[in-house]
Order: sequence, then structure tokens, then C-alpha cells
Amino acid sequence: MQVKSFQLFPEAASTIAGQVDGLYAFLIIISAFFSLLIALLIVYFAYKYRVRPGVTFHPEHHDDHSIGGMVLEIVWSVIPLGLSMIMFVWGVSIYFTESRPPADSMEVYVTGKQWMWKIQHMEGAREINELHIPVGRNIKLTMTSEDVIHDFYVPAFRTKADVLPGRYTTEWFQATQVGAYHIFCAEYCGTKHSGMVGTVYVMSQPDYNAWLGAGSGEGSMAEQGQSLFNQLGCGNCHASVINNQNGRCPNLVGLFGSRVELKDGSAVKADEAYIRESVLYPQSKIVAGYDDYMPTFKGLITEDGMLKLIEYVKSLGAKNGTQNSATSMPVQTGEAVPVLPRGRPQGKMIAPPAPSPGVAPPAGNR
Ligand code: CUA
Repeated sequence: MQVKSFQLFPEAASTIAGQVDGLYAFLIIISAFFSLLIALLIVYFAYKYRVRPGVTFHPEHHDDHSIGGMVLEIVWSVIPLGLSMIMFVWGVSIYFTESRPPADSMEVYVTGKQWMWKIQHMEGAREINELHIPVGRNIKLTMTSEDVIHDFYVPAFRTKADVLPGRYTTEWFQATQVGAYHIFCAEYCGTKHSGMVGTVYVMSQPDYNAWLGAGSGEGSMAEQGQSLFNQLGCGNCHASVINNQNGRCPNLVGLFGSRVELKDGSAVKADEAYIRESVLYPQSKIVAGYDDYMPTFKGLITEDGMLKLIEYVKSLGAKNGTQNSATSMPVQTGEAVPVLPRGRPQGKMIAPPAPSPGVAPPAGNR
């Protein structure tokens, strides 16, 4: 990117950027005003009350707490309190806006890794250190890390969020101008942290559609997730077809976003984190009515693969509708529930998961 003339702030290219800049300007103006006021008063009082020859200091004349002193104390307590409450409420309202992605957001998946950003689009396109998005649409990033803590930061959008191993965090924005903007990693993550950078390309919707159309040729994330589902043998136990309960494992249709009753009497919402945990640590949350015989798939699946599996489970339908972001995509592979081959997938199945030592093999292989 070419060097532009001197700029105090990065470009403001998202819907939230103006609000963040407004608050920031308020903080700077308040701080500058009081810094200046205090500095000038120090100089003025030092001059006014300087020691003069022939004048002696009488402390007993200076410690009377008059009514005037009381009023002054109240005023200089209440005004800063009011100002800091304005900053607090203003900051909190921006924080809440930034931390809750709108329901109509287009989803993109981000995996941080020392030292690069891997991006996956629902339609299957993948990129590294680049993120192509359409202008004027709410974009929700669902992010995780393969190793240490990173932080996905786009200064022009005035937004950033930590990217953590073993967890999903989200970040959203709506770009307001076509252009190219920096991505930085804003959490020290090792030797090449400073090189963990990239570019967001904000495109017009037609340009974005054309870019997406070029595609990866590997199918959508949900389709890739479905083949992973087959490769790992998940379909041997988990029915992924409506009204097909084989009784051994929970049916996955309509699971995403639903409330799941657990064996221990508690309940949990089936979100990304729940699905991830159930694949890697199946024994930690057993669904009511089922037994603990699912083996762990830890070490058999990458974070990128996990996101594809999650996208596949999402594509099997959501009970409350709002979670099914797949419906908002411009390029979609159809709303029909995919029908999986029952039992062991035919011939082309890649090696079944090698069970870790001490772990029961997938039930279907017994
Ligand atoms: Cu990744 Cu710093």
C-alpha cells in the first residue's frame, strides 16, 4: 500500500468507526482541557502565593473549612464523576454493539496460527492473510487459534478481538467503503508476531460474487464438512437425516442452536463451542438418554476441519431459525437436508480414525 500524507488516525471504513472516533475525541478533549487547566493553575498559584520579603506565613489563618470550601469540594467531585459516567455509559454502549453480531451477518471463519491468518468462507473459498468481503454487509468472524493467543485487528474498522486456542470468539463489522485495509495481530504471539499481518479487501457485491465464483472447487464448507463427517465415520452412529433415529447416538438434524438436555440434569445450548467440545471431549457432556461410548477425535481433526464439521452440523437445520446463517448467503448449495449414506460409507472412505491408545474405537467399528 502506498504511503499517504501524514494521518493521525487510520481511515474510518466501518459503521462503528465513527462512534469509536467520537468517544476517543471526547476523551482527548476532556483530558487536554483538564491537563491544561491544572498546568496553568499550578503556574498561576505558584506566582500568586510566592514567598515575598516581609510577609510571614500564619497556618492558623489558612485551615478554616468555610462553607465556600465545602461547595468547592462538592463541585470538583461531582463534575469529574459526571464526566467519567458519560465515558462509562458511552463506552459500554459501543462495547455492547461491537460484541454482539447482528443476526443477519454473513459468516466467515478465521483460524490464527503462528504466524498467519487462515480464512474460510462458507462457500468453500479459502485464503491466507487476505480477507475478501462485500461492502455494506454485516460480516461475522468466528475465530479460533491452532496454537497461542492472537488478536484479529482491523484498525480501519476500529475493531479487534482475541483469537484463543480451544475457544471460539467472534468479531463483526460492516465495511462502508470499497478498498484495502490492514489486518494486524494485536497480541504478542512469538518471534514473527509483527509479521502476522494481512489485508482486508472490501469489494462491491458483484465483484465479491465474481471473486467467490472463482472458488476453490472443493465445495462449500458444509459439503467439505460432510465428507469429513463420512471420513471420520461419524455417520455410523449419528443420524443426520430427519426421522432417522438409530438410537445409539443423538440425531444431529436441528441440533444447532437448540437446547440440549444432559444426563446430569443440566442443559446446554448447542453452539459452536458445544459441538467442538463434544467431538474432542465427548465424555464431558453426555446427552440425556445416551451412554458414554463415543471416542475422542482429539488429534484426528484440525481446527479448520472442526469449523467445516460445525458448518455441516449447522447445515442440517436449526430449530430456532436465527442461527441458520446459511440462508443469508448469496451463493448457497441448496436448503435441502443432505442425505448421508447409512452405515459405513462405501469404498472411497479414507482410513478410519486410528483410535488413540486406551480409547475405545468408534462404535461403528466394533
Ligand atoms: Cu499472532 Cu501476534
